Order: sequence, then structure tokens, then C-alpha cells
Amino acid sequence: VRSKIKRSEEAGFTSYHRDMDNSSAREQITGQIKEWNNDNSIDGILVQLPLPEHLRKDTASIMDTIDPAKDVDGFHSENAGLLARGTPRFIPCTPRGCIKLIKSTGIDIKGKNAVIVGRSNIVGKPMALLLMQENATITICHSKTKNIGEITKNADILVVAIGKPLFIKQDMVKEGAIVIDVGINRVDGKLTGDVDFKEVKEKAGFITPVPGGVGPMTIAMLMENTYMAYLYQKGFIK
Ligand code: GUN
Repeated sequence: VRSKIKRSEEAGFTSYHRDMDNSSAREQITGQIKEWNNDNSIDGILVQLPLPEHLRKDTASIMDTIDPAKDVDGFHSENAGLLARGTPRFIPCTPRGCIKLIKSTGIDIKGKNAVIVGRSNIVGKPMALLLMQENATITICHSKTKNIGEITKNADILVVAIGKPLFIKQDMVKEGAIVIDVGINRVDGKLTGDVDFKEVKEKAGFITPVPGGVGPMTIAMLMENTYMAYLYQKGFIK
């Protein structure tokens, strides 16, 4: 969140944030959202996830109180639906950044085997939709998947977002694969990815580090989505 505020200001945006505490009521959050929905000087709104435990079950309904035209995370059901249908408005920032990283390798995504480890609404699900849109063949693995290593070994493109530090080892990766590590785990005070970077980098063709890989891209995409939201609000794009 600190980085989001800092980068907003560097981009020349004015940013406001309101800290909630662990005992915040649902209405405190939705009240703030509604106030910003109705404020013409605000172009984009996001609620940082995960919500505290007692509000976790309300995540979807809280996302749906954000004006879909200001929903820069793309988590409102209308925006999630538009993405699933193949006519996206706001694309969730992390998967959008991952697609840009994959494209930056110069390798054509079309027809590649893409394996996504994790099925969250924030990363895994939209990532699968975006890679499918790019004509990759998709496999999604999750906590109940058997023999994950056998599946990830077939991946030309491997996107990992399960929140288990150093889960992906060298023997689970195909020679030359593009490996995108979305994991941000704090281990002994140190940020650690879901991929064992030190050993996997010897086998992968391309790999993102943690920190300094997907995280900064997510924030860059948030800036782009916010600028797009501004263009929507002002009627410059439809
Ligand atoms: N928590 C982890 N990733 C994200 C994100 O992209 N947006 C929000 N709002 N919360 C998150």
C-alpha cells in the first residue's frame, strides 16, 4: 500500500487512503466507498485485500459497492464478467502485469502450454482467462491437485501464485520455461517467492525475482488502470 501511494504521487495523481482496523465494520468500508463513488474528483478506487477475518465472507459484496467505472482493480462482478466474456474493461493489475512480463520475452504465447498454480480471484482465475485469450493451452493447479510437479514440468509458461515459500523446485520446471513468481511470503522477516529462485534460475529461460519482479509491475498496471479510469470518467474513451 505504501508503494501504491508513493507511485501514485510520482505519476502526478492525488491519492487518498483510509486505514481500517481489524475490527472495522462492513458499513465503515462501504460508507467510505460510497463517498468516493459520489466524488467527481475521484477517478479510481481500490480496497486492499485480504480483508480481516470477520469480513472475509463479505469480500465479493464489498467489491460490488465500488462504482464499476472506478474499479481500477477489476474485482467488481461486472468487470470480472466482462473479462470472462473476452471484452475486458479493467483487467486485474497482477495478471495484467504478468502478461506484459511474458510478452517482454518476445516469445509468442500462442499454442504454448501455460500452467497456473493457484486459483484465486485476484491472480489465478483472471490469469487463466488472459492466457486463454492469448491462445495458450491452460492448466490450473491448486491445493487439491495431485502430482503438481508432473503438471508444472510440461509448462512452457509457469505462473505461480499459491503463497507457499520456495514451493517450486528445479525438478518441477521444464528447461527454458518462462517462470513468473507471484508469491510474496515473509520468511524470517525476508520477502520470499513461491519459486526457489536460486535453483530454478539455472533451468528456466526467463524468471522473475522476488522482490523486484511481479510486485512493481502490479503497481505500474494500477497506475495505467487509474489513468484509464480517468479517461472513462471524462468521456475520452468508452
Ligand atoms: N492484495 C493482493 N493483491 C492485490 C491487488 O492487486 N489488489 C488489491 N486490492 N489487493 C490485493
